[in-house]
Amino acid sequence: MKKQAFAALLALSSVGAWADGQVNIICSVQAEWCNMIATVYARTTGVKVNLSMKGSGEALAQLIAEKENPKTDVWFGGTGDPHLQAAEQGLSLEYKSPSLSQLHAWAQQQAQQSGFKTVGIYSGPLGFGYNTELIAKKKLAVPKSWADLLNPALKGEVQVANPASSGTAYTMVATLVQLMGEDKAFEYLKQLHKNVGQYSRSGTGPIKAVARGESVVSISFVHDGPGEKINGFPVETITPSEGTGAEIGSMSIIKGARNLDNAKKFYEWALTPAAQEMAAAAKQFQLPSNKGAKNDPRIPDFKKIKFINYDYAKYGASAERRRLIAKWEKDVNSLPR
Ligand code: G6P
Repeated sequence: MKKQAFAALLALSSVGAWADGQVNIICSVQAEWCNMIATVYARTTGVKVNLSMKGSGEALAQLIAEKENPKTDVWFGGTGDPHLQAAEQGLSLEYKSPSLSQLHAWAQQQAQQSGFKTVGIYSGPLGFGYNTELIAKKKLAVPKSWADLLNPALKGEVQVANPASSGTAYTMVATLVQLMGEDKAFEYLKQLHKNVGQYSRSGTGPIKAVARGESVVSISFVHDGPGEKINGFPVETITPSEGTGAEIGSMSIIKGARNLDNAKKFYEWALTPAAQEMAAAAKQFQLPSNKGAKNDPRIPDFKKIKFINYDYAKYGASAERRRLIAKWEKDVNSLPR
């Protein structure tokens, strides 16, 4: 068969295989979970899933850029604050899922405060990851508090992401501002800057670097630890004694979605216990938002963690998020180390 005819046949057969249409998803959790939901959903429904993986801040930037001509149908995962910002900026669609009552109160609250333009799909606490072997080798103490991260012995040994691209790192900035007050929090961030070896783009970059022995400590969501451990790396996690924040990982349907019916179907599926249990199967240990989902024992025990009373509405507001990130760029990131 001639090359051209073969290509035409291939194209035809792929159209046939996806008779139930397609859905374009930006996925802001780790690749393994994104790939699993895309494959399972496509196989079980016959809908083609086009996946694009982006950190929370980068996903929001893409949605802003394509506002006049949206190419995305659903934004799955990532921290809740940029989802709230997307809602406020009219980038996401109001949609009240019939399954809302099956969700934990925090997930429903996320929906309510966005005018039902987003919804909570998981939650997880912010803390530290550390390499047990490196810490022993360098004779360092396990950092138990935010204050401990300022230890001069950790110079160049702390990794955290950049809050402009990473929701994990923005959660850290917002947590510190709520915990210490803004002035003290920025003083703290300036001190911390001296110990930071690198600001990565993605929120999981730091714990992966720690797992591979490139850094001693990371500021990370603690549910990102067990997956590294399963993969054989010497990583443990801890939450700071002064208190910490948590994310409400969220999902939004994009306003102007070209495949709206398929967007709603995927959204409903993603809220089911079976779909949410796939996170643990893909070695991701956030707390699922559906009360009916089985909780893997490796999911952090929220009752044992000291939490601040995180103000999601305030720190998810566009103006506040932009202001804090710009201030971090100007007052912290620009400083020499
Ligand atoms: C990881 C975590 C998620 C979190 C996401 C944020 O995938 O497991 O719980 O929502 O990072 O990513 P980002 O790159 O925006 O910090």
